[in-house]
Amino acid sequence: MSPSQFTSKLAGQRVLLVGGTGGLGVSVAQALIEHGAIVILSSSREHKVKDVCAALVKDYPEAEDRISGYACDLASPSVETNIEELFKRVGEVNHIVYMAGDRLPMIPLEEVTLEKWQKCNQVRTIASILVAKISIGYMKKDRHSSITLTGGSISEKPIAGGWSMLALIGAGLNGLARQLAFDLAPIRVNAVAPGVIETDLWQGMGEEGKKAFFEDHERKIPTDKVGQPEDLAEAYLYCLKDLNATGIVVHSNSGAFLV
Ligand SMILES: NC(=O)c1ccc[n+]([C@@H]2O[C@H](COP(=O)([O-])OP(=O)(O)OC[C@H]3O[C@@H](n4cnc5c(N)ncnc54)[C@H](OP(=O)(O)O)[C@@H]3O)[C@@H](O)[C@H]2O)c1
Repeated sequence: MSPSQFTSKLAGQRVLLVGGTGGLGVSVAQALIEHGAIVILSSSREHKVKDVCAALVKDYPEAEDRISGYACDLASPSVETNIEELFKRVGEVNHIVYMAGDRLPMIPLEEVTLEKWQKCNQVRTIASILVAKISIGYMKKDRHSSITLTGGSISEKPIAGGWSMLALIGAGLNGLARQLAFDLAPIRVNAVAPGVIETDLWQGMGEEGKKAFFEDHERKIPTDKVGQPEDLAEAYLYCLKDLNATGIVVHSNSGAFLV
């Protein structure tokens, strides 16, 4: 038995983080680097990918050769070609963590249109199934390989005020993880379902709006604190490390299901 059999599980593993430059992405990248993994970040903006990689290298100088990234715009009409190009540049990976999400689609039901619905699906659902399809050529077919999608607690625990599109997307992603666990077997596929987590995702509410929303949420949830990105990193690590976990949804939501 190795004295680091648990903490060294991800050492040397190549992990592609799609949407890896955001709040959750950076925390997952930090956790992976600390576990010895090789991280490859991707998001739509070249300069953001470069900046985040540089910040990670600054924090973990000894891991410089384990940190890289490439831009890949998933909102573009050429999304499939973009993903193919990304994988050609990245090469073989052991794990994929999918966290890409554009501006929150908080739209009252009466304002939902076909165009808005199609647009808000592209980055979270359409591109995620394309990533899963294209990954087939780049992952070993065994249970050591994994894909982790990102849903959200909204799919199980509705909240008032304009979230119907997001609830459907979240439920769809949970269902996709379960189905892909068969379609890509023995590669493992799981989903993490975050509750409210303090990241830039909520920027669209404005500083005051965000503060009021978080304070209201914190009055209701048992932990008294909206989730932090580093809390969620543990849920993603679990999905990569437990070789017996596939087709499951890991919830981390401040106990929001209890209220
Ligand atoms: N934070 C929460 O409370 C929460 C709760 C439930 C679920 N989630 C889900 O978790 C995921 C990550 O959330 P987060 O909080 O980390 O959000 P975030 O900080 O806004 O990060 C989103 C990530 O997606 C990338 N992205 C956006 N548009 C893209 C595009 N067109 N192509 C490729 N990448 C794109 C962003 O980079 P660029 O903008 O540079 O492309 C960034 O890396 C999202 O799917 C979100 O819906 C978050």
